[in-house]
Amino acid sequence: MRLARFLIFFLGAALAPLLLFSCADASEVGVNYGRLGNDLLDPESVVQLLMDNGITMVRMYDTNSTVLNAMANTGIKVMVMMPNGNIADAARSRSYALDWVRRNVAAYLPDTEINGLAVGNEVFEQAKNLTSKLLPAMINVQAALAKLGLDDAVKVTTPVAFDALREPSFPPSGARFRDDIAQSVMKPMLQFLQQTGSYLTINPYPFLALAKEPQNITLEFALGSYEPGVPDPNSGHVYHSLLDAMRDATFFAIENLTEPHMQTMASGSNAGQTDTVWTETGWPSRGQVNLGKKPPRDAETSSKADTIECPPATVANAKAYNNYVINRVLSGDTGTPRYPYIDMDVYIFALFNENEKGDGADDAERYFGLFYPDGTKVYDFDFQGTDAK
Ligand SMILES: *[C@@H]1O[C@H](CO)[C@@H](O)[C@H](O)[C@H]1NC(C)=O
Ligand SMILES: *[C@@H]1O[C@H](CO)[C@@H](O)[C@H](O)[C@H]1NC(C)=O
Ligand SMILES: *[C@@H]1O[C@H](CO)[C@@H](O)[C@H](O)[C@H]1NC(C)=O
Ligand SMILES: *[C@@H]1O[C@H](CO)[C@@H](O)[C@H](O)[C@H]1NC(C)=O
Repeated sequence: MRLARFLIFFLGAALAPLLLFSCADASEVGVNYGRLGNDLLDPESVVQLLMDNGITMVRMYDTNSTVLNAMANTGIKVMVMMPNGNIADAARSRSYALDWVRRNVAAYLPDTEINGLAVGNEVFEQAKNLTSKLLPAMINVQAALAKLGLDDAVKVTTPVAFDALREPSFPPSGARFRDDIAQSVMKPMLQFLQQTGSYLTINPYPFLALAKEPQNITLEFALGSYEPGVPDPNSGHVYHSLLDAMRDATFFAIENLTEPHMQTMASGSNAGQTDTVWTETGWPSRGQVNLGKKPPRDAETSSKADTIECPPATVANAKAYNNYVINRVLSGDTGTPRYPYIDMDVYIFALFNENEKGDGADDAERYFGLFYPDGTKVYDFDFQGTDAK
């Protein structure tokens, strides 16, 4: 199987133009349904909103039963999450993991099309003390799914903040996972993901990179269309899009930790399966960020000194970036300089502006939404491709 996929990849590279269509078909763009707002539409109306807008893939931050029941029989694919707070128990006890999976995942299948189970969220950033428990928890959750016969339908993964790469992450060819997690966690986790037919999930935010290094990154690069491009001196690739630079940085970091046969994880199979999924990317339409923190969902207190006014957080830029991401997927132009024919499954962050998120110096966290809480669009976008350029 591995060998076959490896061969398909190289064959795919040779016959690339012929395969473009099947590759394009494999990519999908969805949304993150964050619910940290006290004024959001009820779940039934949200499901209607998703269907009206042709959104067929959703990531949740929990396993709320009202939401999961509302998604039933809609054809919407749902990635659910075991909160960070359950990881220690899931790592400790197989029976805890089995019980949790029964109640929070199995109970909703097959009516609700749960296709992914994230074990925690950005653990290396948001719950550092769980780092050593993460993979044991994923293994126990995987065993629970297997026991229930659901391991083909539901893939186990864990969304990793882009900060899992050490700095600098440019040029991409030099990118590596941070030393504190590379050998101890990422290497065995990549093996686990490969063995289970799952995928690595990463949250890249060109907006945050731009906010952090405005002197080194142009707005056009962060928005995905910088001419003449930025060369990677080692690989010779030229990057016009920071998102693609971040994707290739991730692939190079994976490859540094994996055996050659596992590098199909990074290259994608070109046979319809995607092995790295971008679980969060997005751009706020207003607000400011506090660079002393790890955005976007960290609830520590903020330090005024690190706060910058954030000129890039505008409606025009949010519209440009999110449309760029959506149109990349819809047009099938999903490759990177290193892997020109790779798929790109991506979840835009986020569905709604959420008024219970970062405040004051971090209020940009509230304004990542594609929609206002009442379901009207913050700006124009089109998940169905009827307006795609
Ligand atoms: C699930 O979501 C519904 C609708 O927003 C909410 O009323 C309910 O309290 C949530 N349940 C839990 C356990 O959080
Ligand atoms: C990790 O730290 C948090 C507080 O930061 C604490 O609530 C939690 O119990 C800790 N978990 C473990 C497994 O040590
Ligand atoms: C900008 O890039 C230069 C050269 O690569 C580097 O020395 C500097 O630290 C970068 N600036 C920031 C804010 O990271
Ligand atoms: C991984 O990267 C280091 C440098 O960061 C390099 O020395 C090593 O050879 C690389 N390993 C592989 C397998 O590419």
